[in-house]
Order: sequence, then structure tokens, then C-alpha cells
Amino acid sequence: MSHSHNQLVEQSICSMCHNKRPKLDWTVRDFTYAELHAATQGFSVKNFLSEGGFGSVYKGEILGQKIAVKQCIHANHKQEKEFKSEVDALTKARHQNVVVFLGFCSEGNNRFLVYEFVCNGSLDQHLSQHSRKPLCWQDRVRVANGAAKGLLYLHQNNIIHRDIKPNNILLTHDCEVLLGDFGLAKIVSEEFSCSIECPGNLEYWAPEYAASGKVSNKTDVYSFGVVLVELITGMKTTDKRLGGKNLVGWARPLLRQGNCQKLVDGRIMDSHDCHQLFWLSRLAGNCLNKDPHKRLDMNTVVKALTHIEEGCSGCIVGKDSIAMSSYSKSKDDMQDSSESDDESGNIGTSSITANCKNLKL
Ligand SMILES: Nc1ncnc2c1ncn2[C@@H]1O[C@H](COP(=O)(O)OP(=O)(O)OP(=O)(O)O)[C@@H](O)[C@H]1O
Ligand SMILES: [Mg+2]
Repeated sequence: MSHSHNQLVEQSICSMCHNKRPKLDWTVRDFTYAELHAATQGFSVKNFLSEGGFGSVYKGEILGQKIAVKQCIHANHKQEKEFKSEVDALTKARHQNVVVFLGFCSEGNNRFLVYEFVCNGSLDQHLSQHSRKPLCWQDRVRVANGAAKGLLYLHQNNIIHRDIKPNNILLTHDCEVLLGDFGLAKIVSEEFSCSIECPGNLEYWAPEYAASGKVSNKTDVYSFGVVLVELITGMKTTDKRLGGKNLVGWARPLLRQGNCQKLVDGRIMDSHDCHQLFWLSRLAGNCLNKDPHKRLDMNTVVKALTHIEEGCSGCIVGKDSIAMSSYSKSKDDMQDSSESDDESGNIGTSSITANCKNLKL
């Protein structure tokens, strides 16, 4: 894995709750069951965080480092050696936008994965209709950018995430973004796959994955596109307002038309940057291309998001040309295949321009 010097020496601390991230040169180690039992005060109700697809998650603390302990109930049948070798692939991933995997416990029938604790919950909570303070527009763009950088890093190191969704995008109070649970879907058997247990998760599956069960970097990009739609609309894939329709099916024509006013989360209707919203919608449409060959790769997605985040809303011509250059690879695909029909899922460039005019930017 490649590390920049800074990443190794810097240790970031949340400005609000002072939670410390582990140093990025942390060496993964084995934990004993007794250690984890003590760290979580006996897996107490007080330390219970949430129930996920793999088992319960508990908060704990070891030597001043806050940790999240994830029970891996469905890995029980795996032999200790097999479990360790599968987990091994995850141990070296170190990046500002990736949750640090601290180690594991494989003792008797117990299997636990230990991660750094991320202090401000997961993206699903921040987008929820029950959230008292839903994420503001600028933070949504920031989250998209941070998650994309984390995912690009994983892809550059030959790790397919396999489970990109808002629950696995964790935030600090400073709105630092950390991707969790990369590669984890691999270590539980198919029959217990969380995605099968939760029907809403099917929405994150790229069409070719649903058809063949084969994962790739491009299946991650598709899932990331679904997350972008959630950031824009503030809706879950199972949102009641969709009246049983699926989120991507509902959003796809609106993304194609560039109908941002219909797409945008009503809670930020008056506070979003229209220009950024256009480009983000367009990007989402291109991540959701049904054809994996025409779908963007994470390198292009990160470049586009960097331009979107840095862009100023007043300078539409300048930003258009910058953003267009980052899409140059897929520009032809977008123009010839998408303006007349929905088959490719891509969004045409002229429709974006037309809709910029509609919004009087
Ligand atoms: N490292 C962590 N730090 C803080 N909270 C965490 C951490 N990991 C998980 N959580 C919290 O626990 C919840 C459950 O996590 P878990 O990963 O078990 O299930 P999930 O993310 O909902 O689904 P999946 O099993 O597909 O990942 C998450 O939604 C998140 O709110
Ligand atoms: Mg998770």
C-alpha cells in the first residue's frame, strides 16, 4: 500500500469531542476475548451501538483509544486460519478516508473485528427524516468527496469495497468522512449476506452484479452513484414517499432531464448551490450507467468531485469548462447514447446546459 509521509505521522483529533484517530501506522494485532470483554464493559447495553448485517457493534476503549467492536456471527463456521487469511487483505489499508482496522479476535467460536471508533455516526443517520439537523448542502458535497477519495484509494490497492451504502460512511463532528466495512461482505458466506437479509440493499447492486453475482470496481461505482442520489434527495432507497417504487428507477429520468428541482431534498431547497447540484446530479447519473464499461471509474469521479467542491457558484462558464475536462473520457458516450433514450443511464451534456438556464444560474 502506498502512504504519503504526512498520513503516517499526522494524527487527527475531532475538534468537538476530541476523539483521536489511531496513528495510521498502527500495526494490526490479535485481541483476546478477555481484552474486548473488558474494553466494552462486558458488551454492556450502555456500549451497544447498533445491530448490523454481521452482528452487534459495541463501543469500547483500549489504552485511551476508542474502538468499535464488531461481532461476526456468521463467520462462526469458518476455521480460525481461514478467517485470519481473509481478514489479512484488509489490514494494510490506511487512508485519511478509510476507517482504520485495528485487529481481530478469533478465539473458540468467537469472531470479532476491531475498528477505530468514529465519533459522529453514519451518513444514514444524518440524512434521516428523523434527524433534527439534516446535513447541509456543503457537507453533502464534502461527504461525497471524502467517500469517493476513500473508495479510490481502496480500488488503487485492489480492494473492492462490496458494500458501499450510507451506513458504511462514517462521520466525525468535523465532517471528516471515513469509509467502513470494506471487503467485509467477502468474509461472511453468501447465505448470510446482509444484502439478502435487507431488501433495501438490493438497490445498491449494479445490474451486472444482480445478474451474475460478480463484483468489480465498477459495481462499487454503481453503489456510490446510489449514495449520491441519497445525498441529493435525502431519501433512503426504501423511502415511503416513493410509494413502493425504487429510488434509482424514480431518479433516473429526473437525472437524465437534469430536473434538479424535483430531485433536491426539500429540507435544503433554499440553501443548496444550484450549480454544484447540477454537476452532482450529472455525476450520479454517470455512476449509475447500466453498462459497466460506460460507467465512470473512481479516478474520474474524484476529479469531478474536486472540481465541484472547489467551484464557485458565480462562475458557471469557467467551472463548466473545468468540469467538462474531467469528464472528457466519457463525454462522447454521454453525448451519443443518452440524450434520446434511457438505456445507457447517462446524461447528455446539452440537457445539463439547458437546465442551467432553467434555473437561471
Ligand atoms: N467504526 C465505527 N465507529 C462508530 N460507529 C460504527 C462503526 N462501525 C459501525 N458503526 C455503527 O454501527 C452501525 C452498524 O454497523 P454494521 O456495520 O454492523 O451494520 P451496517 O453498517 O448497518 O450494515 P453492514 O453490515 O452491511 O455494514 C452502523 O450503521 C454505524 O452507525
Ligand atoms: Mg457497516
